[in-house]
Amino acid sequence: MGRLAGKVAIVTGGASGIGRATANLFSREGAQVAILDRNGAAARETVENLRRAGAEAGAWEVDLAEGAVTETIIANVAAEMGRIDVLVNNAATYVLRSFAQMTREEWQKVLDTNLTAYFLCARAAAKEMRKHGGSIINISSVHRIISEPNSGAYAASKGGVSQLTRNLAIELAPDNIVVNSISPGFIRTPMSVVNGVDETTTPNFIDTYVKTGRIPLRRAGLPEEIAAAALFLASRECGYLTGADLVVDGGLTITL
Ligand SMILES: NC(=O)c1ccc[n+]([C@@H]2O[C@H](COP(=O)([O-])OP(=O)(O)OC[C@H]3O[C@@H](n4cnc5c(N)ncnc54)[C@H](O)[C@@H]3O)[C@@H](O)[C@H]2O)c1
Repeated sequence: MGRLAGKVAIVTGGASGIGRATANLFSREGAQVAILDRNGAAARETVENLRRAGAEAGAWEVDLAEGAVTETIIANVAAEMGRIDVLVNNAATYVLRSFAQMTREEWQKVLDTNLTAYFLCARAAAKEMRKHGGSIINISSVHRIISEPNSGAYAASKGGVSQLTRNLAIELAPDNIVVNSISPGFIRTPMSVVNGVDETTTPNFIDTYVKTGRIPLRRAGLPEEIAAAALFLASRECGYLTGADLVVDGGLTITL
């Protein structure tokens, strides 16, 4: 029997990268998976693949930055799939822009997607989870700890995710809902492609992070390696862990 047998899991941003790997793994472990993503075509394709493998899954096309429809969509998931046990808040966006050049609209879009949507999804999902307990997993980033030029809004949003995680862990503990986060380092996904180039394959990345051992494991991570951490946080084995952050970065942040 799978580690998530009988559970219903929502994965936001489940149409690509870390979210897709998580949806795939959760499904293999027996969960019914609901993918919420603004890329409807990719979400439907992911769900078709899961169904072909014999799993139950559904796709909901939604821009979570808009906020207004989140509660209704999550209520629809609960009605269609019967319950909600796990929420993986994963959908996020990155705007590469200097502090001086970033517009208010760009700033707001990053915060709406990466932080406010996490809050809104958690609030809506917790209404269902209160009936039987559950698990919320917020995908953060090493940018909550470190920072670099041109990533101010993203770093601020991920710092916010950390504190939101701790706060929800306290407020939802009486309902037997555990809330934890994962801070990935450099992971090879479409998000690591900047201007058409995968930044984890550039000479600059290799020279700065790999050859020097700044990432002690001397490579970028894979989406499946973040999904594996999410599986632990979603499983029954995680019953006494809440408010914690798992840094999954090949050791990057210990060499700073
Ligand atoms: N890739 C990395 O190196 C890395 C590192 C640290 C943290 N992360 C975090 O991991 C998570 C997943 O990132 P990824 O690398 O898999 O990215 P990705 O770009 O491959 O996938 C993101 C998914 O989220 C969806 N999405 C984005 N904005 C949305 C919105 N407003 N509404 C609905 N769906 C939306 C996209 O359509 C896409 O399917 C993010 O929270 C990201 O911040 C990634």
